[in-house]
Amino acid sequence: MKNPELKDTIQQLFAHGKGLLAMDESTGTCDKRFAANGIPQTIEMRRDYRGMLASTPGLNESIGGAILYDETIRQNTNAGIPIIEILNKAGIIPGIKVDKGAKSLAGFPGEKVTEGLDGLRERLAEYKKMGARFAKWRGVITIGDGLPTTACIKANAHALARYAALCQETGIVPIVEPEVLMDGDHTLQRSYDVSQETLRILFAELYLLRVDLEGIILKPSMVLAGSECAVQNSIDEVADATVNCFLSSVPAAVPVIAFLSGGQSPQIADAHLSAINKKYRGHLPWIVTFSFARAIQQPALEMWKGQEANIDKAQEILYRRAKYASAARLGEYSEVAE
Ligand code: 13P
Repeated sequence: MKNPELKDTIQQLFAHGKGLLAMDESTGTCDKRFAANGIPQTIEMRRDYRGMLASTPGLNESIGGAILYDETIRQNTNAGIPIIEILNKAGIIPGIKVDKGAKSLAGFPGEKVTEGLDGLRERLAEYKKMGARFAKWRGVITIGDGLPTTACIKANAHALARYAALCQETGIVPIVEPEVLMDGDHTLQRSYDVSQETLRILFAELYLLRVDLEGIILKPSMVLAGSECAVQNSIDEVADATVNCFLSSVPAAVPVIAFLSGGQSPQIADAHLSAINKKYRGHLPWIVTFSFARAIQQPALEMWKGQEANIDKAQEILYRRAKYASAARLGEYSEVAE
């Protein structure tokens, strides 16, 4: 299945050092982050927050596309302007999260499989009509005692491949997101092994289901020691492990790897991405960029706090974080400059 529309969208999304802003938190996740900042967990506050993000002046200098949640793609700002229209006017391509969340995998305690395939063809057609040109589906892989199982990786890879094929049929670029969680005390080597296994199984499944690899965006986690591991590695060690792992498991036909931030601080996520692009400049077959949520949004959310008076300052912070991520894509991020 080859569709020139897919390549076109990918080219536009990632031109001029750009990456993606993920602002597709489910209502539960968004509300949790609001609660931690004393912000009321209402549909109006979520609308105001997303409206503020989308209308940040100059955001399009570093952001080529924004991933929205179903609630947001249908929402107008307080002033009555559709949020999707604000993005389109700014030249930021709207995308949409289409999975229905990771649910417990029957028979495999502690593991999850992502749901949402039923009726997906029809939902994709509706989103396409609304203006979405790319989509996202996230599979979750947990590292733990005896985890992940091959069954869990295979179940998630199969769902990701079925989703990707449906997207491509509709002319929507699928973001394929196999997230290996950084929760736990596992080592960098363990993260490497699990990421490699996950990616190899994923690409076998994408191939089997005839997904055009030139028409996908891979959104993985970086190869990192667990957040509770006693040994935390240097920036260069993480960059080396991540690049070696991906070179051994991701086909060169894939045009773009856009990393999630996964709970890393914005500074660390940017430093890792920058090191990958600086050290391996000219040696990687893919564009290596970002599709961050927390590593771009979090400081802006903390500044906003749900107050209209803080909007300008919060947007300034969001603008800067997006700029830093874009610098990292080019291998030019420096914490010192920050
Ligand atoms: P983080 O960058 O906060 O990990 O979020 C990215 C994302 O889209 C998770 O699915």
